[in-house]
Amino acid sequence: MLETVLCGVPMRNPTRLASGIMGVNSGQLIRVARAGAGAVTMKSIGPHEREGHRNPTCIEWEHGLLNAVGLPTPGYMNYDEEFKELEALRESGVPLVASVYGSKWQEFREVAEYVSGKGPDIIELDISCPNTEWHDTQFACDPAISAKIVASVKEVTGKIPVVAKLTPAANSPAEVGKACEEAGADALCAGNTMPGMLIDIDARRPVLAFKKGGMSGPALKPVNLKMTYELHEKVDIPIIGEGGITTGRDALEYIMAGASVCGIGSAVWQRGPGVFSEVCSEISGWMKGNGYSKLEQLRGIAHER
Ligand SMILES: Cc1cc2nc3c(=O)[nH]c(=O)nc-3n(C[C@H](O)[C@H](O)[C@H](O)COP(=O)(O)O)c2cc1C
Repeated sequence: MLETVLCGVPMRNPTRLASGIMGVNSGQLIRVARAGAGAVTMKSIGPHEREGHRNPTCIEWEHGLLNAVGLPTPGYMNYDEEFKELEALRESGVPLVASVYGSKWQEFREVAEYVSGKGPDIIELDISCPNTEWHDTQFACDPAISAKIVASVKEVTGKIPVVAKLTPAANSPAEVGKACEEAGADALCAGNTMPGMLIDIDARRPVLAFKKGGMSGPALKPVNLKMTYELHEKVDIPIIGEGGITTGRDALEYIMAGASVCGIGSAVWQRGPGVFSEVCSEISGWMKGNGYSKLEQLRGIAHER
């Protein structure tokens, strides 16, 4: 009932672990796959070793999480061992999404070329991280630079599908998505965290050491859901809906807006790795109760009403 296909890659269900949450090493990715995720995404891999920001880097507030982890990475050249350990995941048949970032547009291609050699099922481009010092606005705010990154990565990734991860902070995420599609993106992710900040009034300072961060979890759902809905009207490639999916009902909202796959990040923090199978049984429970047997019957249905 829940099987789906993303860019030719079969998935046993439409959930996927979002990048950067629990997926920071191969052991965690394998654990999440065994817990029922339809696909798992690695923490974003960068061009050079980078420590990330000082603590506190991630805090929970009443409507979700706020983080500025700062993309820590050992650099792609130190990933051979990690990919070897992920062979166990490959045997389980759960697709692996490798996430890639760069600080300059040219670096995405360099990292993607290395990563393609390791044979992930899908490559996702994190062109939308808000938590770095090198740019206050993300690449994904600009359709032209986003398209340039996608086109240059596509030259080195062969048959591996490439996903462009968009930001809700763009003036028109749908326009950015369209530009990425025209540049050759195989799918879009809608989307990353929304830039924000919180202040501890007793300490009289921002709660995160980096001061500003990215907001995720329940407060993000209406924002990225709208992005998914608008993208569905503008592009023909599949969309990964992501942002604030905590329950099967949240996932169904994204599917009805047009998503093929539902990314789950912050809810793993809240509900544990069991969240993937719980969300799946909540989706199928609702479908059975309402007379649906295939996800396809629901995809984009909210556009018809
Ligand atoms: C602690 C933390 C670390 C994250 N790291 C990454 C990352 O390395 N790369 C990336 O593309 N997104 C990263 N994200 C964004 C998530 O992948 C996801 O897109 C976002 O949190 C929205 O989904 P959610 O509301 O289900 O968490 C991170 C989010 C959090 C909370």
